[in-house]
Amino acid sequence: MVKIAFNAALAQKGLKEAPSAVKDPELAGPPAHSDGSTGRCLLTLLGIAFILSGLIVGGACLYRYFTPKRLYHGSMQFHDGSNGAEAQPYYLPQVEEKMEISDNIAVISVPPPRFRPGDPAYILHDFNRKLTAYLDLTLRTCFVIPLNTSVVLPPQDLMDLFSQLMSGSYRSYLVQEDLVVTERIEDIKPLGFYIRRLCDGKETYRMQRRDTVQGGGIVKRSAEDCFTISHFENKFVTETRICKA
Ligand SMILES: *[C@@H]1O[C@H](CO)[C@@H](O)[C@H](O)[C@H]1NC(C)=O
Repeated sequence: MVKIAFNAALAQKGLKEAPSAVKDPELAGPPAHSDGSTGRCLLTLLGIAFILSGLIVGGACLYRYFTPKRLYHGSMQFHDGSNGAEAQPYYLPQVEEKMEISDNIAVISVPPPRFRPGDPAYILHDFNRKLTAYLDLTLRTCFVIPLNTSVVLPPQDLMDLFSQLMSGSYRSYLVQEDLVVTERIEDIKPLGFYIRRLCDGKETYRMQRRDTVQGGGIVKRSAEDCFTISHFENKFVTETRICKA
């Protein structure tokens, strides 16, 4: 294709410059004086190809990063075993979420809970890198932990769950998980584009499940600085308790 365009361009040029010399563009060999213009023509074509490929790649990137593929909204009511006795008989606590899912990334927005302690947060599940990041909006701090695939449904199932939630009220139960901050992450680049974008400019820490921390079972819990984020990415609500040891 490039060759055809090149020949046509050359032929036109030849026709303009010396109409008598070139009768049939297909038969005419390249004129001896056109070595310089051939080079320039090739360069121009290369330049155009370069610009076009830039536009295509750029467009694809813009499309990928700036168009949310799907946006969902859902809420779950749940039985809270821990203080069921105190709760009003007909009142069930509720967790609301908005979820944006695209490209194997789920970003969940959790508003501040009503009538319950808990922090508003963004939760990002990167299914490619198998990482989860919590951005606590009260503390403006990021917490990163390996993605727990037995809690977080895969993208297609997550979408199905939200579709189900949109068609009526959903009653569920509460699961608590206990996470402990282990170290500060100075360089967030290795965490990938999406977590980097979420956690850019915030203090970022690595976490671990409390039951996997060596001898971490009952260490001075009262002295710790803890907060909770209630959310769901499965058919139950998870109350994530994060403690800065
Ligand atoms: C995932 O979460 C479940 C329930 O909280 C827990 O039992 C399990 O140990 C976790 N798995 C990993 C790999 O952390």
